[in-house]
Amino acid sequence: MQRPDRDPPFYNPPRAQSARLDSLRAAVETIEPLEVAGRVSGVRGLLVEIGGPVSEMRLGGMVDVEIAHQSIIPCEIVGFSGSKALAMPFGPLEGIRRGCPARVRSAAGGVRPTDAWLGRVVDALGRPIDGFGPLPQGPKLQPFKAEPPAAHTRQRVGAPLDLGIRAINTFLTCCRGQRMGIFAGSGVGKSVLLSMMARNTEADVAIIGLVGERGREVQEFLQDDLGPEGLSRAIVVVATSDEPALMRRNAAYLTLALAEYWRERGAQVLCMIDSVTRFAMAQREIGLAAGEPPTAKGYTPTVFTELPRLLERAGPGAGEGAVTGLFTVLVDGDDHNEPVADAVRGILDGHIVMERAIAERGRYPAINVLKSVSRTMPRACDPEALPYVMKARQTLATYSDMEELIRLGAYRPGASPEVDEAIRLMPDLDAFLSQGKEESTSLGDCYRRLASILNGV
Ligand SMILES: Nc1ncnc2c1ncn2[C@@H]1O[C@H](COP(=O)(O)OP(=O)(O)OP(=O)(O)O)[C@@H](O)[C@H]1O
Ligand SMILES: [Mg+2]
Repeated sequence: MQRPDRDPPFYNPPRAQSARLDSLRAAVETIEPLEVAGRVSGVRGLLVEIGGPVSEMRLGGMVDVEIAHQSIIPCEIVGFSGSKALAMPFGPLEGIRRGCPARVRSAAGGVRPTDAWLGRVVDALGRPIDGFGPLPQGPKLQPFKAEPPAAHTRQRVGAPLDLGIRAINTFLTCCRGQRMGIFAGSGVGKSVLLSMMARNTEADVAIIGLVGERGREVQEFLQDDLGPEGLSRAIVVVATSDEPALMRRNAAYLTLALAEYWRERGAQVLCMIDSVTRFAMAQREIGLAAGEPPTAKGYTPTVFTELPRLLERAGPGAGEGAVTGLFTVLVDGDDHNEPVADAVRGILDGHIVMERAIAERGRYPAINVLKSVSRTMPRACDPEALPYVMKARQTLATYSDMEELIRLGAYRPGASPEVDEAIRLMPDLDAFLSQGKEESTSLGDCYRRLASILNGV
């Protein structure tokens, strides 16, 4: 598949007529057929109560609360109580008054992306925030919330996808349309790993959702980690931690909506969300405000229904394109069994575990290969390379079993030939697994390098 052109086809002069028709169609679609409006009757915490034609409002639907002329706060209906609809805002509530009109939007929330969106940074509603001017609008509405393709129409997971990371390419080979979780505590190197993959991947397009990040880190991620080269074929969706819960949740929805747009056009898409935990926290905030009961660690039941609905949207489509999903999960206090980590592990096709102890030793990316699993291995692995990969895994396992004794000096060389061999190979394997931010190694080179380590050449 060729990389999509930077210029959207409907801007080409020979197709000007159809472009005009398309934009006309898009304009007609946005016209509200009949205005239905309620009025704000109260505000309780994060919730706005709306009275009026409540039967015209639906759960998950949008209303625009007008606080002054031309100044609106978009809100989403999150529940009903008595004769009132309960809405949550996408922005700060300052300025809202009782009696403000709340207009019901008939169209589903969504964006109209084009190829010109590549290289841009947008907020959770798809508005540009990089200062490079407005974004051209395409003809097709891509809804924020979409159903995953029907299971029986979906293609199977495809050929291996080169991600440029030695530890992953070799031991946890990721296939086109596979969905993997990256589990790590804070500061262990998740974001750097994601940016390395976004830069090094052979996928056509990368869509990166930064959900609930610290504001300061966003620029660091864009400038230092991703860089102009990584950004040129990516779109970054940002909702920082200070934004309302609906914005943070919507950033994850938008990330998948954009990935779906390019998948429908036959592209190989790498879709990343950093982090799914913050999406779950946003959903928890919304659920608790709407009156849901808290369950495990305060997470509400809808967190565990929304997670699969979000993550299932990644994966292969019905056609040629596929969305390969990489989702980071922040494991609180390095507890890999906390509820969100547990739920995500069950939904995805594999998990990459990063450990603080490895990072502290200075080996980055701090991936614990033995604790990580890719459910498409060994099918995805080159059959010629498979014996080497298995051998290296065994060597790592043997060393890890004996590591404490070796470090204490309690292991006597010569006691076991396997352990002796593991001790001999370990420095080279350690060097193989550690990879600087700027380095990239192709799938073929990974196999060749591993074979030469194991063959002792
Ligand atoms: N491949 C690497 N090479 C060298 N240093 C690295 C590498 N990966 C990560 N680091 C170091 O680890 C630090 C933390 O990385 P990063 O910001 O990616 O962690 P994180 O898991 O995303 O943290 P948070 O949970 O706070 O978002 C980086 O500032 C960098 O110093
Ligand atoms: Mg991070």
